Amino acid sequence: MFLYTGVAAGFFAAVCVVAQAYVLSDIVDRIFQKKQTLADVTALLGVLLALAFLRAFIIWCSDVLAQRSASRLKGSLRQKLTQQIFALGPAYTQSESSGELVNATVEGVEVLDEYITTFQPARLLAMLVPAFVLVVIFLLDPPTTLILLFTGPILVLLLAFIGGRVKEITEKRFLELSWMSAFFLDMLQGLATLKMFGRSREQIDNIRDISRHYGATTMEVLRIAFQTGLVLEWGGTVATALVAVEISLRLMSGFLPFNRALAVLIVTPEFFLPLRQLALKYHAGTAGKAAADRIFAILDTPIKQARAPTTRSARSLPARSDIRFDHVSFAYDAGQRPALQDFSLHLPHGQTIALVGATGAGKSTMAQLLLRFIEPDRGSITIDGLPLDEIDLAAWRARVAWVPQQPHLFHGTIADNIRLARSDASEADVSAAAQAAQAHEFIRQLPQGYATPIGERGARLSGGQQQRLAIARAFLKDAPFLILDEATSHLDSVSEAAIQDALTRLMRGRTVLIIAHRLKLVYTADRVAVLDRGRVIEVGDPRALLTQGGPYQQIVASYEGAA
Ligand SMILES: Nc1ncnc2c1ncn2[C@@H]1O[C@H](COP(=O)(O)OP(=O)(O)OP(=O)(O)O)[C@@H](O)[C@H]1O
Ligand SMILES: [Mg+2]
Repeated sequence: MFLYTGVAAGFFAAVCVVAQAYVLSDIVDRIFQKKQTLADVTALLGVLLALAFLRAFIIWCSDVLAQRSASRLKGSLRQKLTQQIFALGPAYTQSESSGELVNATVEGVEVLDEYITTFQPARLLAMLVPAFVLVVIFLLDPPTTLILLFTGPILVLLLAFIGGRVKEITEKRFLELSWMSAFFLDMLQGLATLKMFGRSREQIDNIRDISRHYGATTMEVLRIAFQTGLVLEWGGTVATALVAVEISLRLMSGFLPFNRALAVLIVTPEFFLPLRQLALKYHAGTAGKAAADRIFAILDTPIKQARAPTTRSARSLPARSDIRFDHVSFAYDAGQRPALQDFSLHLPHGQTIALVGATGAGKSTMAQLLLRFIEPDRGSITIDGLPLDEIDLAAWRARVAWVPQQPHLFHGTIADNIRLARSDASEADVSAAAQAAQAHEFIRQLPQGYATPIGERGARLSGGQQQRLAIARAFLKDAPFLILDEATSHLDSVSEAAIQDALTRLMRGRTVLIIAHRLKLVYTADRVAVLDRGRVIEVGDPRALLTQGGPYQQIVASYEGAA
């Protein structure tokens, strides 16, 4: 939509210029050739002035319009990207570099906007305006059209020739920028680790190398852009000079009336102007194209997980959370990294199931499957007999309270962060949840209590404090199905013991999946499953298993030994 109004505005501005040229040549002709007085041409001068104003007005309108639609476009594009990234889910963001995604959504959208609002109209205008000027010149003086018909395509060819090179380099430049962002973000997040290992120097060298590379590529782009500009300026000037020579020769030998000659001379540069402007915007154009490719690649990434229940009619949630995994297999990285193999487990309604096993056994993967951040490659997950992927996703997630292994705290106050679980919770609810999670005490000691702002990673809280906030969320959510993934792993044994009672109370009457290294909570579970490299190797009553000399007993023995 904007494209057409922008092109129309540019076209009418060009029409104004041609009309101006015509009127101007007429005025000059009347005064110098026909010896009229200034008074005789006042009307024409008025027309000239009006045309100038009209042109300025058109350009102003189109600029304002461009700005407006640009910000709208950027807004909606970022919104789409965010929606898409949300839809793709954590499995996607973990496999992509965050710095690179940030670059695509922030910088990429910015240059794409330039591409759409300036380069695209310029490209269309570079075809329309010369054609129009050509027609006008043909009407004024057919022989001149021949010169333009000959020089115009040469310039276009030159532009296309250099353009191909620009494209390659700007794409490289965009890649390098993404890379730099990714590297920088990584470095910021791992600053402490890097300093600890004495790697600051190397990182600084790395950044220097990357920036140097990026700088060199940028200079290359600018050099070529400058060359393109130079060639076109030069070519345009030479062609205009040719026209001037040809016209003056014919003017002197009396083949061409003065006013026409002058009009042709003034209009001719307009033939080359759009091409020159296109050359100026060429590198913005190619940069935008590179960004567009990346952005549309993100937008076109098929959403594997969480198939929206639009394809199948979503069924409403069964009343009971009776969960069954049947021969489920799942591998990360497109089948490259198997995490669960032929995994079967029954989580009966209202019972507590504990999942134990070595690190990397696939415990968190099972939780991710239940939350439908990922979908099984094979096998099925059913809730009370209904396939999980046919159940309305939002309704299902509303039923699950999940305390993740690495809870994330957002920019905002402590209360906001707890209230994430239920946005309409009252202050009393929030503090009750915090009390249950043993978080109330430390929150009260913070300078502003519940209103204390915390950083994007909860920078000012300890690991155990963050974990307690995550548990407070679960209390506040009060959902019938609870997943605790190493929920107490960062807590000291005193806090853990204190929270244990609260968790036991929370677990009562709910279906619970506990994933734990530490086994205190596991002892109280109704059933325990031992996972080894993606397979269930033992299931049973924790007390009974203790006497059977199986894997569970070994795990407990080594744990008790260590304790
Ligand atoms: N996003 C991911 N991309 C690729 N591989 C992954 C991803 N997440 C986990 N894995 C791999 O899948 C396997 C199972 O991981 P998972 O997180 O389920 O283990 P876990 O049992 O929860 O371990 P821990 O006790 O250390 O939390 C591991 O080999 C891990 O390297
Ligand atoms: Mg885990």
